[in-house]
Amino acid sequence: MKLSFSAIALIPALVLSGCAPASAKRKSLNLGIAIYDSQDTFISSITKELSDLAEADGVHFTIRNADHSQLTQNEQVKDMIADGVNVICVNLVDRTSTSAIINAAMKNEIPIIFFNREPVESDITRWEHLYYVGSDPEESGRLQGQIAATYLSQHLEADRNGDGQIQVYVLEGEPGHQDAIVRSESSVTTLQNAGIRIDKIGYSICDWNRQEAQTEVTRLIQEETEAELYLCNNDDMAAGAVDAYEAAGIPLTDRPLIIGIDGTAVGCQLVQSHALIGTVYNDYKGQAGAIYQLASALSENEDMPELMNSHYIMLPYRKITLENVSQFQ
Ligand code: GAL
Repeated sequence: MKLSFSAIALIPALVLSGCAPASAKRKSLNLGIAIYDSQDTFISSITKELSDLAEADGVHFTIRNADHSQLTQNEQVKDMIADGVNVICVNLVDRTSTSAIINAAMKNEIPIIFFNREPVESDITRWEHLYYVGSDPEESGRLQGQIAATYLSQHLEADRNGDGQIQVYVLEGEPGHQDAIVRSESSVTTLQNAGIRIDKIGYSICDWNRQEAQTEVTRLIQEETEAELYLCNNDDMAAGAVDAYEAAGIPLTDRPLIIGIDGTAVGCQLVQSHALIGTVYNDYKGQAGAIYQLASALSENEDMPELMNSHYIMLPYRKITLENVSQFQ
């Protein structure tokens, strides 16, 4: 059975399974994948990549969408264990609410690979077969800040009101998410450390969401907020900011600078068309590959992937600007 992840987004409360053909190479792996929201662009990419890898190997897999409810996800994990999965990849809804999942995993001796939404270290170290695959949010904020600092040092006209400082507005992901808190902090700090004088005029929480960001930036445009640079925690929110300026009929030359993180197809296309000054590649392929390698190693009792560091596999981020965007498209 061939399943495409794009179809998943249309089915709420989904249960999807892939079936192993007779030629299955990894017969012992039966993979459970629990995600917080199938509508999230970056999570869709990583899940599609992961299910493609499983399909190519003839591995049986099940995907469950919690649709933002930790209680639902706890039940989904228990159901998958009852159905016989032997490794579960968990993209937590609430990264601080791990106890139900970890208790079920330990009781049934099913390894858990958390990904993208990082549990606190004291949770990960509760049992030897709890792992995390992701990336360092400090690095993504730092690279975003570096792209912005380089651009600003070459484009003094970006200081539109000529006050000698850059009015910065931050579009943030979900409260409590490591990638929101840390990216915002390190991006702003990097700009300051690069000697850019900034005036942080505000921030809005837009939950990684393009529509929420558009609504918020439309409001800011209407209120004549003097933003000169939007630092966005992800590309969907950066795209929402672009949408707001488009809808307001404000030409590219009269807009503030906008920068994202993720390097999604839309993000790269906006870099290509100069609507974003850059983005930062969040390596969904590398992360999915590492999750799959680790799951396979656990089920086959093979050696751990090379990148494994204690309970963690962390993949690097990369800067994307007009100069190198074609390599990511
Ligand atoms: C981040 C990513 C966001 C969003 C979030 C979900 O790493 O940059 O776009 O997908 O994860 O947890």
